Amino acid sequence: MRPRRAMLFMPGDSERKIAKACTLQVDSIIMDLEDGVAWSQKQNARETVRRALQTFDFGERERVVRINPEGSGLEEDDLEAVLPGQPDAIALPKVETPAQLIWLDDALTRWETRQEAEVGSIAILAIVETALGIVNLREIAQASRRLQALLFGAEDLVGDIGGVRTAEGREVFYARSKLVTTAAAFRLQAIDQVFTDLHDLEGLERECRQAVQMGYQGKMAIHPRQVPVIQAAFSPTPAQIEAARRLIDAYRQYQARGSGVFTLDGKMVDAPMIRAAEQILARARQQNVPHPEHENGDGRE
Ligand code: COA
Ligand code: MG
Repeated sequence: MRPRRAMLFMPGDSERKIAKACTLQVDSIIMDLEDGVAWSQKQNARETVRRALQTFDFGERERVVRINPEGSGLEEDDLEAVLPGQPDAIALPKVETPAQLIWLDDALTRWETRQEAEVGSIAILAIVETALGIVNLREIAQASRRLQALLFGAEDLVGDIGGVRTAEGREVFYARSKLVTTAAAFRLQAIDQVFTDLHDLEGLERECRQAVQMGYQGKMAIHPRQVPVIQAAFSPTPAQIEAARRLIDAYRQYQARGSGVFTLDGKMVDAPMIRAAEQILARARQQNVPHPEHENGDGRE
């Protein structure tokens, strides 16, 4: 699966912001047709996004369109307008039931068949941001083979539940944790909530660190300033890669001598830590992070 560290949103009616995103070092660009676009600008946004998809040079960046939710009455026209631009993925917001993803999967299959394109080539990213969506996560995660990532929408969730959004985030911790756990269970990527304070880069970094610790693989961004912080936070550092490699090397040596558990630098090491170290190396490979010298023998993804 492709890395999705920073996923930068911008309103689909802003050609200027889409163009700007194409100059940034960012894994994914999400052109929005939903809540970032005023009602009067929906049609304008559809046309702007299609034009951008057809004419801008996105380079290696993933080209994602967030359409309006299934059931909004806008979703069919959104798809029809943007699919001719051949986006890499469609992000579906407010996903609450598997049926909504099945609708999107079927619509994409019909389009691909009509275009004689490979069926399944357009990915689906599901934004889960309502109480019902959190309750139904297990079924949502299994609804479509196109589904690659679950994105956690904290602001909408708190609005839906009737809680109060705080900097500490205890009000969303259960859901944020359930989402990343469900994603791991079904081998999907988990993408963390938006950080809405555009000027607090330290707070953003703290929240990224917490997300990494929880197992998130990326985070949504809403301003270019947030992008380098997020891209860096979700990339293993050379020191982390080296430490993971050293751990795995030691583990192999002890295994060969018949011990499954040993100490390294005064700390106990056993199989779970090796799996965590392997995840770091897999992530580094996926992101093409340059490796320290001796790459060998762990070609797992
Ligand atoms: N993507 C790409 N470029 C962006 C951007 C974004 N999300 N946000 C700002 N920029 C650009 C601006 O166009 C400006 O470029 P310019 O100097 O070439 O004109 C530059 O970055 C600096 O922008 P700034 O003046 O600091 O921000 P702003 O006041 O223009 O916009 C927001 C603030 C919040 C409206 C804007 O960041 C935004 O639209 N964010 C995305 C919101 C969104 O999509 N929400 C829905 C999903 S949660
Ligand atoms: Mg939302």
